Amino acid sequence: MRLLRCARNDLPELTINTVSETLILTPNLPRAARYAELHPQVAALTAGEPDQTANLANTVAALREAFGFFWVGFYVVKGDELVLGPFQGPVACTRIRRGRGVCGTAWAEARTALVPDVEAFPGHIACSAASKSEIVVPVFKAGQVVAVLDVDSDALNDFDADDAAGLEELMRLAAAWF
Ligand code: SME
Repeated sequence: MRLLRCARNDLPELTINTVSETLILTPNLPRAARYAELHPQVAALTAGEPDQTANLANTVAALREAFGFFWVGFYVVKGDELVLGPFQGPVACTRIRRGRGVCGTAWAEARTALVPDVEAFPGHIACSAASKSEIVVPVFKAGQVVAVLDVDSDALNDFDADDAAGLEELMRLAAAWF
């Protein structure tokens, strides 16, 4: 395996796995441990990088690689809508109004929305018929929701409190990019 190095001479204290562009992922970890393993790597990958798109894009790529999620991506608050940002997975709807769908509800209620069965969620927006369960985690900046992270699974009931905790911690990191 060839490890690609970022040109990060300003961060000599970081170890090889945290300056590499290759994620180090221990096989078969439970999700809570996987989030704990991933968090410092996303922190290192985005540290000192001011470009929001680059950081959001690498975060969703890291989540997809680490967990194999069916769809993972950001929707960014623009005016009274969420607008599709960097994502991994099938093409998705571009704009979501506040209060609409799982994403718009998480924004309006300013809290994580955990949906074990999307068909049982009134107003769920079905970007893909394959999506069965979903978790949406807001990004807060100065107390306001500035974006949401949306993760979809093609399995029912695929997310729990460990996902909420791991993703919320990651989104506290993402706040710095807004
Ligand atoms: N299901 C979401 C819409 C976004 S797609 O899942 C990518 C919702 O209800 O807000």
